[in-house]
Amino acid sequence: MLLKNKKILIGITGSIAAYKACEIVRHLQKKGAQVRVCMTPSATEFVGSLTFRALTGEDVLIDWKDGKTGLEHIFWARWADSFVIAPATANTIAKVRTGIADSFLTSVALAYDKSIVFAPAMNTQMYRSNQTQENINILRKWGHLFVEPSEGELACGEEGEGKLAEVEDIETVVLKSILPQYLKNKKVLITAGGTREYFDPIRYISNASSGQMGYALTKIAYAMGGDVTLISAPTNLKKPYGITVVDVISAEDMYREVIKRAEKADVIIMNAAVADFRPESFSREKLKKSKEKSVVHLKPNPDILKKLGEIKKKDQILIGFAAESTDVIENAKDKLIRKNLDYIIANELDVFSKKIHRGWIINRRGDITEIPEMDKESSAFLILEKIFKR
Ligand SMILES: Cc1cc2nc3c(=O)[nH]c(=O)nc-3n(C[C@H](O)[C@H](O)[C@H](O)COP(=O)(O)O)c2cc1C
Repeated sequence: MLLKNKKILIGITGSIAAYKACEIVRHLQKKGAQVRVCMTPSATEFVGSLTFRALTGEDVLIDWKDGKTGLEHIFWARWADSFVIAPATANTIAKVRTGIADSFLTSVALAYDKSIVFAPAMNTQMYRSNQTQENINILRKWGHLFVEPSEGELACGEEGEGKLAEVEDIETVVLKSILPQYLKNKKVLITAGGTREYFDPIRYISNASSGQMGYALTKIAYAMGGDVTLISAPTNLKKPYGITVVDVISAEDMYREVIKRAEKADVIIMNAAVADFRPESFSREKLKKSKEKSVVHLKPNPDILKKLGEIKKKDQILIGFAAESTDVIENAKDKLIRKNLDYIIANELDVFSKKIHRGWIINRRGDITEIPEMDKESSAFLILEKIFKR
């Protein structure tokens, strides 16, 4: 729970998407955050402030004079670990860019001394306009963060860019505004999921990997400033925000896509559960049911991690995972040396497909750091912080 006890101020502005702010408040609260809300006067025409007073148990401040002392715009700016304006109208983005402080929300924005997270929502032309794009570019240059709107059907009846980003994606950028940026300027290549080895058009051999750990590492590596590419075997998970995704199916596909990108990567995290073997033959037609015993002959797949260890560049950090049934640490240490890794994360099999993770981080000197039981995103943060905190 990386947002546990974090203080998040949500600023709501006058967009038709303002009703979605209720969901943002609830989502961040479920992640353990303390949430306060401020609204522009026009936002209150779209949703009532009472809703947010009830959801947060706190006053909702609107006018620049609001609050017990009149100085709450300063106190709230100091209070917040993260300030997210969602939805952010074109009008408010323009005001924050120019320093207009004519409401409580825009006054906090001026008094806030960290990166503000903006989640724009507006009609496509308003979003694409020179004015809005220039305002966004300048705010980005000053270090503020934007959660890109998605494409879809807009309230004005048009289809296009301008739809408020999904709650999970807003949460990811909120995390980015809070977490230390240890992976800034680093190209990070991550693999996730369990590969599938087909022997006819619809049947395959695979494993129980859900991809949750690799996806958690991807989300947190992005939130820690990394330029992340995820090579993903099939999973049911939503693609993390802000990264490049390459979908693959088999171990051979994954080998090809990883090796192609390995040279440019500063950090490679091989979390995918890659099948060691694949069926020797593939039938183009669905195999018929046979009354007799049938046998699938297997042949070895290329060993991606071993190859990465062989071609590793001097300053590249190569991290592997080892899931073991017995002698977990000893087997993991052996794999680390055999495959020329910098770090290996060892865990028992019972964390496969679970929401929790637990294990050990082992380096080349044999130093061991225990990962106590925690959710996979917290574990991903612990791993990346341990390795990249300088
Ligand atoms: C029905 C309706 C929907 C609107 N939706 C949006 C919107 O999604 N995004 C936006 O930037 N402006 C939208 N506007 C315009 C803003 O409400 C208007 O610019 C207002 O001044 C914004 O004030 P604020 O930025 O202080 O909240 C909408 C206006 C109306 C009447």
